Amino acid sequence: MIDLHCHVLPGVDDGPATVQEAIQLARGASADGITTIVATPHVDASHPEVRSARVRGAVAELRSALAGARVAVAIEAGAEVAFTRAMELDDAELHALTLGGAGWLLLECPLSTTAAPGFATAARLLARRGHRILLAHPERSPIFHRAPEQLDDLVAEGMLSQLTARSLDGRFGRTVRELALDLVARGAAHVVASDGHDANRPARIAAHLRNAGLDTALSDWLTREVPAAVLGGAAPPRRPQGTRVRPRRGLARLARR
Ligand SMILES: [Fe+2]
Repeated sequence: MIDLHCHVLPGVDDGPATVQEAIQLARGASADGITTIVATPHVDASHPEVRSARVRGAVAELRSALAGARVAVAIEAGAEVAFTRAMELDDAELHALTLGGAGWLLLECPLSTTAAPGFATAARLLARRGHRILLAHPERSPIFHRAPEQLDDLVAEGMLSQLTARSLDGRFGRTVRELALDLVARGAAHVVASDGHDANRPARIAAHLRNAGLDTALSDWLTREVPAAVLGGAAPPRRPQGTRVRPRRGLARLARR
């Protein structure tokens, strides 16, 4: 799998504090079947010093640390950019912050209602400036809890959406799980990533996909095929036909919606 959203760089944001913790996070990812991690530190008001040059430097250092520790995971540079910060950065810097430098910008959907006004407008402005937009964890954002159709509009305009794996089996609560599964069922989700941070939020995807009952073809599309296209700067391949979402245990009710 290719993990397009992971805070794996040590000492850059709220991810691992040390190189050893970053190695542990990457080792866990490897055990989960992840072969490539895109390092996506926060680029927001709380981390104004995080710029593309710093990300590239930290990626180079982590690659060498992982080679020394014999952890076979490739690391690419990226970022998780808040829309408020994105509006302050020029196009060259924004492009340098895209996933693998290939043109898809991971834009953080606000997790609080106070940060929400202006998000959709900003996302559209960035798209008009030529950036391809991958929306980070819309299922966790109050904007789309209130008005999920707003996400359909953005997707219809060409944006993609990335779910966090832990959302799929309820680790962020029922509201988030229901929206995540609904987005998968109606084709408004394109990528599943870990949003891993540390030992408490590991870079783990596979178990969450299994718990949510996603079939193999759909899981592959969400975690391999679309992420590979994103890293190649390309449009996503067609979603496989006839795929099912069949949540386990208490999630079965949701599958019938
Ligand atoms: Fe994140």
